Amino acid sequence: MSEAEIDWDSLTFSLTQTDFMYIATCNLGGVWEPGKVLPYGKLEIDPAAGVLNYGQGIFEGMKAQRSAEGNVVLFRPEENARRFQRGADRLGMPPVPESIFIDAVEQMVAANNRWIPPTGRGALYIRPVLWGTGAIMGVAPAPSYTLCIFVTPVGPYFKGGLSCIDLLISDEFHRAAPGGSGGVKAIGNYAPGMMPSINAKKQGYAEVIYLDAEEHLYVEEVGAANFFCIKDNVIYTPELTGTILPGITRASLIDIARHKGYEVIEQKVSTELAMSADEAFCCGTAAVISPIGSITHGETEKVYQNRTVGKITRELYDTLVGINTETVEDTFGWMHKVNLDLTINHA
Ligand code: PLP
Ligand code: COI
Repeated sequence: MSEAEIDWDSLTFSLTQTDFMYIATCNLGGVWEPGKVLPYGKLEIDPAAGVLNYGQGIFEGMKAQRSAEGNVVLFRPEENARRFQRGADRLGMPPVPESIFIDAVEQMVAANNRWIPPTGRGALYIRPVLWGTGAIMGVAPAPSYTLCIFVTPVGPYFKGGLSCIDLLISDEFHRAAPGGSGGVKAIGNYAPGMMPSINAKKQGYAEVIYLDAEEHLYVEEVGAANFFCIKDNVIYTPELTGTILPGITRASLIDIARHKGYEVIEQKVSTELAMSADEAFCCGTAAVISPIGSITHGETEKVYQNRTVGKITRELYDTLVGINTETVEDTFGWMHKVNLDLTINHA
């Protein structure tokens, strides 16, 4: 497929192969050197690779967008670089230096420029992954690592964009436990959520809400997005306890809301608080802000705002998307303009 054949208005959150990918490698205990840009294609991998056998891998998710100013912009890429480093540390992998990470992301955006959707009609989703690709038999860090970055044009993560989603609280399954890997984007965190998510979808829900694994009382996350609720004009979001992914969208919305004068409380959010709130939404790079129309827990269903977008949810959405598309002033200095003429290090 060529970009000319894409119907930008029908984009979903799915994979379209683009032109180029980025690859760098490093040995355990070694130092990362800048990698190369190659045509997008299949990789060869040893069956004994650490990532294939023991899940030694992490990923990131970022978006490049064409702004209303005509720039191609990234949102806080240094935060993704730092989270990627924390994840690498947690999984015993050599962390990629921030400068190499950001330069690689920029090269991927510039090289795949023609796949960036027109302003306001989607984004180029950027997927950096770090895998233990060296062969290893014992359960130990792989001897070598591959940083790979690929990109794909995407539309909304949940069907319908800014339309309300119905969610189901799981009493049976958990995403993460204290001391585990829930606080980093370990690839192994995601497969265990697939079966619960499929079952929820079969029942008509968009996703599962996971509770804490110790007391089963507190909301942690919505699949692959962070949770917020609003009650009496106070904004609540689960505090970071190590089991919740520290979302960059989450942190940014806390800053935006406080800047607007809202009280934002990071605390344990009980199901009672969540289900007595006036508004609720989940957020993330892929999900942006997805307003929640209802939450079901056992026999109880809570409907928010008659399944319409709440006022504060809308206000936060407009500001976040406005900053992202350079139609709202970037008071926080978050937007990172990509130089599309930068040198691309082709293999
Ligand atoms: N929670 C989980 C489990 C995720 O995978 C993501 C996606 O990255 C998020 C939350 C949202 O994080 P961010 O806002 O940095 O994309
Ligand atoms: C993101 O929001 O970027 C994610 O990584 C979510 C999901 C697609 C795993």
